[in-house]
Amino acid sequence: MSEVKKTKHIDNKPIDIEKGSMKEFVPEPGKEVILSVRDLNIGFVTRGKKTHVLRDINLDVYKGETLAIVGESGSGKSVFTKTFTGMLDSNGFISSGSIMFGGMDLVSFKSDKDWLKIRGKRIATIFQDPMTSLNPLLSIGYQISEVLRLHRGMSKEEAKKEAINLLEKVKIPNAAERYKDYPFQYSGGMRQRVVIAIALACRPEILICDEPTTALDVTVQSQIINLIKELQKEYQWTTIFITHDLGVVANIADRIAVMYGGQIVEYGTVQEVFYEPAHPYTWALLCSLPQLGSKDEPLSFIKGNPPSFGKEIIGDAFAPRNEFAMNIDFVREPPIFKISESHWAKTWLLSPYAPKIKKPKVIVELHERMKQAAQELERQEGFTHEENE
Ligand SMILES: Nc1ncnc2c1ncn2[C@@H]1O[C@H](COP(=O)(O)OP(=O)(O)OP(=O)(O)O)[C@@H](O)[C@H]1O
Ligand SMILES: [Mg+2]
Repeated sequence: MSEVKKTKHIDNKPIDIEKGSMKEFVPEPGKEVILSVRDLNIGFVTRGKKTHVLRDINLDVYKGETLAIVGESGSGKSVFTKTFTGMLDSNGFISSGSIMFGGMDLVSFKSDKDWLKIRGKRIATIFQDPMTSLNPLLSIGYQISEVLRLHRGMSKEEAKKEAINLLEKVKIPNAAERYKDYPFQYSGGMRQRVVIAIALACRPEILICDEPTTALDVTVQSQIINLIKELQKEYQWTTIFITHDLGVVANIADRIAVMYGGQIVEYGTVQEVFYEPAHPYTWALLCSLPQLGSKDEPLSFIKGNPPSFGKEIIGDAFAPRNEFAMNIDFVREPPIFKISESHWAKTWLLSPYAPKIKKPKVIVELHERMKQAAQELERQEGFTHEENE
């Protein structure tokens, strides 16, 4: 950890240091909101001890968009989105807040019966490991048809026809033949396609993709991402795409929310977060992108460990790892500051009283480097062959 800046710029201001920040959540004007989270707090009880994991989350998800949620392992991405389908582990609890969807507050749902009308049906999730969603003992065809019969009331024949159609939609070769196969006869990438087909079967309004490609190799990864993008255009759902890899989101997302230590620390459009990132944690994430490293300088990475949820977090959770931290970061939690109607970040650096700092070189040169990285990718893709599974 570098030495803490001894600036007194903010620390000595007696009042109004939150000038320019948001105390109440202000939605972006003119957007159709499909899901709205307010002041959400989530904890767990482990061996009789309570932890406070998600802290005061506010977020609107817009209809038809692809929202990426990024952040390192343990930042709370899965815990956050699991609450949209009532899939929080049994030792987890929502201590306060609301999640509004379709005129209902999902936080008020008590039983699995309440969730039946939402989970899989209106909000579906694709997880990293397709086997968590597939039954190894049942044929692929049976598993898709079952969903169609149950959720869309189709007859056996109708369901079979539609299941083959869906397998074709997710580009399974010889769909009619492969309908009879079992999960173990499919490769990892193909199993993930089947999971997407099952999700499609219910025509969800929101599709949560929780690291859907992390377990797959790079070529298959981009094919799955392109498939999700293509199908979204046709089916017009809203995608929430969770990843710890900022590299993939430029390709798929409209907006990005960055999570750190159970909080959203920055969010904005892809352009805003990539080209005008404001939070030092986002800078650190961007600096770690392998695509942006150049041969003559070592890749930057984020030093230190994320906060421990077992202890009370005082000040800014990122402060101990933040080379730009000021004294105030260790004593007072920053509010979220408005940068534009769509761009907000939770850092004292945005206070009008903060000193002007020099951003890391990679961040200043980001635009140019991204352009070069995209050109390089295009060049490489020219040599990439079709998936061969
Ligand atoms: N069942 C549980 N009991 C106790 N703590 C939990 C439980 N599930 C999650 N947590 C805590 O919540 C934190 C956030 O977990 P979460 O799975 O949301 O992280 P994530 O951002 O999805 O990480 P990854 O990228 O590894 O999937 C974890 O660091 C862990 O401390
Ligand atoms: Mg996760």
